[in-house]
Amino acid sequence: MKLTQSAVLAFAASALAAPSSTTQQEPRKVAAACSSAVSLDASTNVFKKYTLHANKFYRDEVTAAVSALSDSSLASAAAAVADVGTFLWIDTIANIAKIEPALADVPCDHILGLVIYDLPGRDCAAKASNGELKVGEISKYKSQYIDPIVKLIKAYPNTAFALVIEPDSLPNLVTNADKDTCKQSASGYRDGVAYALKNLNLPNVVMYIDAGHGGWLGWDANLKPGAQELAKAYTSAGKPKQFRGISTNVAGWNAWDLSPGEFSTASDAKYNKCQNEKIYVTTFGAALKTAGMPNHAIVDTGRNGVTGLRKEWGDWCNVHGAGFGVRPTADTGTELADAFVWIKPGGESDGTSDTSANRYDSFCGKDDAFKPAPEAGTWNQVYFEDLIKNANPSF
Ligand code: BGC
Repeated sequence: MKLTQSAVLAFAASALAAPSSTTQQEPRKVAAACSSAVSLDASTNVFKKYTLHANKFYRDEVTAAVSALSDSSLASAAAAVADVGTFLWIDTIANIAKIEPALADVPCDHILGLVIYDLPGRDCAAKASNGELKVGEISKYKSQYIDPIVKLIKAYPNTAFALVIEPDSLPNLVTNADKDTCKQSASGYRDGVAYALKNLNLPNVVMYIDAGHGGWLGWDANLKPGAQELAKAYTSAGKPKQFRGISTNVAGWNAWDLSPGEFSTASDAKYNKCQNEKIYVTTFGAALKTAGMPNHAIVDTGRNGVTGLRKEWGDWCNVHGAGFGVRPTADTGTELADAFVWIKPGGESDGTSDTSANRYDSFCGKDDAFKPAPEAGTWNQVYFEDLIKNANPSF
């Protein structure tokens, strides 16, 4: 992972700091994993049994950020973020190397969340997260990305894994099929997602495929084609047993059950009944069932603590004024929603605001986007501090 200069300095500072100042954020030292093989029953909600693990990489980023804070009350609030269970993004082949170190402190009652995110021609409808693999490099995706991850997970049968498969990919094929880049990416996305689902179907894994959010596939005209696109991936993967359903609101901003919904007074609101994620999970879930696919959901609540910030529902980049949301829990009050989880690591950027950068996307230059922002995935200290100040519930 690339680091901003301030994060590098913060890392250096934390390395020099007396151990007593950082022990609070030290992970529990536990024997790795369980004493016997984990077997997850994907016909049940595994988040009732397992706690989403606060992974070492996010913990390290947060710890570095804390040591850069001079305001002690903000620093102690920030330190608590390190203990929140968050997914670890495997966004390049090189970052597969993060998996083993992240496994070292996962206790038997925790589940490690990983985001599988490296399809050829990634992020076809935007630029901010364009990936390392080019359109056509599907065999590289299979042999150098998915296969090594499969091998690693097989080598740790006593650890439980929750996987989110390829955020935004299939939703883009549903709604952005007219864009040349998405046309070019389409066959690789379908092939790659099915390959991932088929090969990651291991006993110690539970899988969720990404379904965008209510403001994306929740439009009346998108529900059925969206469900069919996702169900096709599930079917072509041979209906894997460890498949549980969908992830929604990944890196998103939608409220869970705000009513009336944030965009319910927009002129086109009548075409979308899914004005919050709860309605989306239920409505899209019904469409998935009809399409013949398991339909339980996990919902990213990492950054949805504050509403009313976006000018338009589709605004996705570093929304200014955002706050951390509800902490991971399996108590959602909705049977179809397995858990609220943190998927996007809050503090990592959605995309650069540098207009001269290759991956500059105009959404990151919009009025409601925080600036300046570094490249997607890299640390944005000021944005992180705002997420804490605006957290709801607060830290
Ligand atoms: C970036 C990834 C990053 C992820 C989590 C995405 O927008 O493209 O590189 O790992 O966010 O921060």
